[in-house]
Amino acid sequence: MFEPHVYKTRREKLRQRLGGGLVLILGNVDVPMNYKSNTYRFRQDSNFLYFFGLDQQGLAGIIDLDQGGDLLFGNEASLDDIIWMGPQEALTVRASRAGADRSLPSAKLKEVLKEALAKGRRIHYLPPYRAENKLVLEELLGISLPEQQAGASTALIKAVVALRSVKEAAEILEIEKAMDVAYQMHTTAMKMARPGIYEREIAGVLEGIDLAHGGKLAFPLILSVRGETLHNHDHGNKLENGQLLLVDGGAETSMHYATDHTRTLPVGGGFEPRQRDIYEVVLNTQLEAIHAIKPGSTFKGIHLHAAEVLASGLKDLGLMKGDIAEAVALGAHALFMPHGLGHLMGLDVHDMEDLGEDYVGYDEEVRRSDTFGIASLRLGRRLQSGFVLTVEPGIYFIPALIGKWEQEDKFRDFIDYDRVKTFVGFGGIRLEDDILVTDEGFRMLGKPIPKTVEEIEKFMNQDNA
Ligand code: GLY
Ligand code: MN
Repeated sequence: MFEPHVYKTRREKLRQRLGGGLVLILGNVDVPMNYKSNTYRFRQDSNFLYFFGLDQQGLAGIIDLDQGGDLLFGNEASLDDIIWMGPQEALTVRASRAGADRSLPSAKLKEVLKEALAKGRRIHYLPPYRAENKLVLEELLGISLPEQQAGASTALIKAVVALRSVKEAAEILEIEKAMDVAYQMHTTAMKMARPGIYEREIAGVLEGIDLAHGGKLAFPLILSVRGETLHNHDHGNKLENGQLLLVDGGAETSMHYATDHTRTLPVGGGFEPRQRDIYEVVLNTQLEAIHAIKPGSTFKGIHLHAAEVLASGLKDLGLMKGDIAEAVALGAHALFMPHGLGHLMGLDVHDMEDLGEDYVGYDEEVRRSDTFGIASLRLGRRLQSGFVLTVEPGIYFIPALIGKWEQEDKFRDFIDYDRVKTFVGFGGIRLEDDILVTDEGFRMLGKPIPKTVEEIEKFMNQDNA
């Protein structure tokens, strides 16, 4: 946890951005996996972590916008809790660690809110994403589940997005701590990606690296020789020579700051010529996009620039044809890259996605496109110094998509389907790094993980014993 003043200052900044009323921030509770006391791993709500920092179940915070004062709600551990879970900190101690003014038992939360509602005061809450907290909100505020999304406070969402988007120096340090773990994860995958090993063996070791460092995975590992499936969480394949292994994995520190990197590796340590050709296009696209990062540029513009670099590389390889600017404007390149260039990252790997992607990644000036491909771009708006984001272009050969577009005669002027079909079975290549937007432009976060063809082949072939 950071020092108490960090949370106090954040709540003060929130207060300055909002009018009157109360802000209610619900922490998370344990969620049963297969019976009540066998729970999924606990993950605290990121907004609660940001404003109150406490990483325990069953807490809630209230920020009074009119009278000042921050309240922490929770329950003291019972003797039974202590017997099963060990000694627990008193609520007053937890409140002081969060810099809160007072603490009250959870049972008082409804009373405090009821009283405020009776006085006609506004209760600002964030969109709930867990069933348990939806039920709590219904109980506390009397808002039925279907009405809760619409009832969430847009003013609060926008204020939280504004604060959390620009990382504090201490947050960047925390993200950088996770980068060392990320380096170890990805270089370990490089050492292990040999024919005959199962994906799950590598996945197990990578997750173990996070656990051994006191953190966890930032999201379920994507590690597969079937990299054309963008979020492939299946790890059942045995690696074979000539395949590409796509590893998209991130670490999360004990304070829950994330990393998110992708590397695509030639099983056995050597790229085949065709793999190298596609790899170079993805790499060139990624480097061009990273170098375009600076405050004031829109990420939508950088995405479109990256798409043109990618598409012209594909044209050089005979997979695309025609006028590349026109092809990209119409979305023809999305056959190969049907996703966005990147997203914000912080306490969540897709930072603040619970608040609504359009609030996080777009604004009044930059609107989301509904064209296939760029419609999946999570971040489009102008960049500011202090943003942490990913840049992750990719090229995939997705049989179902190729088949559908060809059947529909889609973009025949821009796509050479006969040549594309010779790549079915190729898989996919994605490269991803994490970047801080600075006043001057950008800074790559973390120790560089081997990325060029030469670096990867060298690393995979050196004596890694
Ligand atoms: N690393 C997974 C994603 O960004 O969607
Ligand atoms: Mn990502």
